[in-house]
Amino acid sequence: PVFSAYDYITPVIGHRGACGEAPENTQASIELAAHQGAQWVEVDVTISADGIAVIHHDHDLDRCTSGSGILNLHRLSELKKLDAGSWFSEAFSQQRILTLTELFTLANQLDLNLNLEVKPVIGRESETVWAISRALQEVPYEHPLLLSSFSLHALRACASHLPHITRAINVEAIPRNWSERIEEAGCQGLHFQAEFANESVIREIKAAGYHLLSYTVNNPDTAEALLSYGVDGIFTDYPARMVRALSRWTR
Ligand code: G3P
Ligand code: MG
Repeated sequence: PVFSAYDYITPVIGHRGACGEAPENTQASIELAAHQGAQWVEVDVTISADGIAVIHHDHDLDRCTSGSGILNLHRLSELKKLDAGSWFSEAFSQQRILTLTELFTLANQLDLNLNLEVKPVIGRESETVWAISRALQEVPYEHPLLLSSFSLHALRACASHLPHITRAINVEAIPRNWSERIEEAGCQGLHFQAEFANESVIREIKAAGYHLLSYTVNNPDTAEALLSYGVDGIFTDYPARMVRALSRWTR
């Protein structure tokens, strides 16, 4: 694409908002990340039984809500009744699962750039991408947007339905055939797990013109090292700490 969201990337990206200090993927977590100085946040996107894009990390509701069972088998009206904050702390008992349209409205208000990690239930990948594109039609989002996924099916659906939006493939370890993997997924970036960082491979990938982000980095020294190798940014659970520690990397 001509427009690349990576042209606007910053070293610090809030992971699921500021999930070290507020319940992940909720409005409270996203607002906290913004107030702590993060210009980007990453959140996870899946769909309800009735095909509405919602923000949630797990396949199941058990860990992060008052509900239980498979998220994708619940309609939005049922999901909206759940408490998505008390598991973290009673202070967050008012938090609900966000829809993607609510998230776009919030991010427009907060001037926040978004990385939507597409986390479809296997088998509903293109439906999940359709739901994202419907949400974008409902609430035009006015900031750089980056789509990423571990799912090749989801990335291919993004490339065909939302071709103008910058895309990244998520992996744990950086594959030896990284170039093939990035290209077959039609992506401009690779997001990898920090534990698998390798300086010379990182330099090669950057030299080939791709973008690199790394998750999840909560230690400022690790972040400094990754940025010095050429990684464009890191996903962190503690944006305040990282914004402070990485101020010299801010463009
Ligand atoms: O998108 C980066 C990172 O969030 C991928 O792993 O499990 O935290 O969604 P996970
Ligand atoms: Mg994620």
